[in-house]
Parts: sequence; structure tokens; C-alpha cells
Amino acid sequence: MSTALIDLASSEYRLSPWDIYRRLRDEHPVYYMPEGSWDGEDLYVLSRYEDVGFALKDKTQFSSKIQQDNYMNLPMLVNRDAPEHTRLRHSTNRAFNARLVRQLSGWVRTLVDELLAELYRHDSVEFVDAYSTALPLRVVGGMLGVPLDRKADLRRWSQAVMNSFAVSAGLDPDRVPGFFEDIVEFSNYMEELAHERRGKPNRGDILGELVEEHESGALTRDEMVTMAWSFIAAGHETTMNLLGGGIELLLRDRDLAAELRADPSKHAAFIEEYLRLNSPTQWLLRRTATELTLHDTTIPAGALIHVVLGAANRDPRQFDNPDELDLSRPNVNRHFAFGAGVHFCPGAALSRLLAETTFAAFLPVLDRFSLDAERPARLREQQGSYGLSQMWVKVHPRAEQAL
Ligand code: HEM
Repeated sequence: MSTALIDLASSEYRLSPWDIYRRLRDEHPVYYMPEGSWDGEDLYVLSRYEDVGFALKDKTQFSSKIQQDNYMNLPMLVNRDAPEHTRLRHSTNRAFNARLVRQLSGWVRTLVDELLAELYRHDSVEFVDAYSTALPLRVVGGMLGVPLDRKADLRRWSQAVMNSFAVSAGLDPDRVPGFFEDIVEFSNYMEELAHERRGKPNRGDILGELVEEHESGALTRDEMVTMAWSFIAAGHETTMNLLGGGIELLLRDRDLAAELRADPSKHAAFIEEYLRLNSPTQWLLRRTATELTLHDTTIPAGALIHVVLGAANRDPRQFDNPDELDLSRPNVNRHFAFGAGVHFCPGAALSRLLAETTFAAFLPVLDRFSLDAERPARLREQQGSYGLSQMWVKVHPRAEQAL
């Protein structure tokens, strides 16, 4: 078995992995990489739709506890198994349920309109910073009770949280000085906010649910605070890739934009197809709980599994013409961009709302924006996260045609 097929650290694997995914699915459905992980552990790669679904859904055979003894092993949902995961997930499910999220639509539209008005004040603007990062940060920050005048702090804190994940994945902490102090500051601030809420009626937002669970003894102080800031990290990095990438595609493909403008009932399918083709989270990690044999390969218990959502989402065994964006695809919702099983993304309804509101607001005024040909959009270099790091956009006066 070749070990040179994929190099997880290569920029090709991060920026244009589609051909590698095809070879993995067709030639190596279980791809063994001795010492393939960043810290030299053996790695097994799963890429077919059916196998990815198996790894995500079968919790008797696959665990989410990746790092048992790491100092960054924080009490977060994503790296826990039942029964701890079930307990931690309870308040999250209440705060993010689809009915409550729908009630936020008016507020989200106001935030979108405010950001759009800010864009109009420029001739040229870096969209990822000015819009696709700003919207999810303001929305999730607002749901956590962080006032808008702390938005600069929120950005710094959320960057610190992302840096902490990078450090736990092997980045030298000296390259991100101050991240730990920022996290402590963020944690203290969240604790202050939670303290102010105690004894007051639950507003039904994320902070309210967390405080209620803490007061009932279901969550410790550390769990409450860590959960709060993990929402900021999990929510903004992924959603910004959907918002920025979606707008970039519409600016490049004006026919697609015209089709969506003419028929808003197609917006939901566009969001799902965008997520399927450009999954913001390209892969996840799991550990085998037991020894198992898959496609004639025996994987030992405790092995690290690289579960490639992005490859499963383009598997022709599941999706016809998988590399094409098809708004009438019958199984348009069957992708794994939000994961599957008990860890299925609790923020899915919220990020769909942010995307729907964004596209509904931008499509009618899209001709006021165009991509800056001199400063082409750039993809992020970060492992496992697929999306734009930078997209310069020209903003045109109302009367002028940008096309
Ligand atoms: C386009 C946007 C998003 C994408 C593609 C996405 C993707 C994912 C994926 C793939 C998982 C599964 C992780 C696993 O199984 O190990 C997940 C879990 C999670 N997501 Fe999202 N997410 C998005 C938006 C959000 C938002 C807006 C929030 C919150 C504000 C959020 C919070 C979480 C949390 C807390 C988990 C852990 C759930 C658990 O382990 O039980 N996500 N997300």
C-alpha cells in the first residue's frame, strides 16, 4: 500500500483535494498512513459516503475522545462521548432548537442590513473581514449576551480560541503569543455575564440556558464558560466560509445569481449544494473504540481515524454527478457538512438562517458588487477548514452597472 498518496500537511490537500478524494474513495477506501498524524500517530482515512456515515453514527465503535491527556482537553461537546456528552448537549439543544432560531430572523435581518449599509460606504472592501466574519460573530456574540461595543474584544477572543485549537493540534505556542491570556480574559468575562444573569428570568438565549443548567447543578462553572466560548469558535469560523464562499460564487456566476433572484424557493437548495461541494469542515477525527475490519483492512482499537466529510459529500455512490451544483438534486439534504449522529451540528439551523438572510439581502443588489480582479480571492491555509481567507470586492454606486 502506497503511503505517498496523500500528504495531510501539503497545500494541495488543503486547497484542492478533490482528485485526491476521488483516488481515496476508488482505490483506498481504508487508507492506512503509518505515523500520518501531526504528532506521529498512525492514521486511517475513510472517504466513502457509507463509511463516513458509519464512523459518525456508530458510537459503539467510534469515539470522539481524541486526546485523552492533553492539557487542552477542555470540557467541550465535540470531544466527549456519552454519558458526559448527553449531559453537556442538553442545554445546547434547547438554546439552538429550530423554533427558537426562527424567532431570531428579524434581528438577524437587521444585523445583515447594518453590515450591508457599512459596505456601501466603501469603494473597495475586504469582504471576509467586513461581512462574513462580522455577521456570525455578532449573532453568536449577541446570543451569548456580549454587547456590540465589545465586538473588537470578541474578535480577539475568538481568534485566541482558534489559536488554542491550533496549539492543541501541534502549533508552536510561541507563534501565537498571548492567546492563553486572552482565553482567560474571555472566560472571566463570560463568568461575569453569567453572574449578572443569575436569578433573572431565562431569556431563552444560549447564555440563559447555560446559566440555568449551571444553577441546577447540571454544568460546572468551567463547563459553562468553556461551552460559551466554544460556540463562538465553532460558529463563526464555519459559517464565515459558507457566507463568503457563497457570495463569491454568486459574483462569479451571474446566471446562477439570476436564477436564484428569480426564484427564492431555490435558495435553500443552493445553501445545501454549496455546503456539500465546499464543506467548511472538510474532515473530523475519531478513535476506534473496538478493533474492526473494513474493506479487508483490520483497524486496531484506539486507532485515530481521519473521517473525510468533504470526500463523502462528493461520492458518486451517493450523489449523481457529484462535482456539479444541482439545485434539483433529490437528496440535496443528505450531505455530511454538518456531521451526523449525536454530534450533528447544533448550529445548523442558525447558520442556514444566516446564509438565507445573507443571500436574500444580497441577491437583489448584487450588481453593486464585483470581484476585484487585481486582488483575487484567496483560500485559507488552515488544516481541515475550507473557505476564503480574503476576498476583495469593489462596491459600485447605485446608478452604475457593475456588470
Ligand atoms: C456552516 C456552518 C457550520 C458547519 C459547516 C458546521 C459543522 C459542524 C460539524 C461537521 C460538526 C460535527 C463535529 C463532530 O461530529 O465531531 C459540528 C458540531 C458542532 N457545531 Fe457546527 N457547524 C457550523 C455552524 C455552527 C454554529 C453557527 C454553531 C454555534 C453557534 C456551531 C456549533 C457547533 C457545536 C457546539 C458542535 C459540537 C456538537 C457536539 O459535539 O455535540 N456550529 N459542526
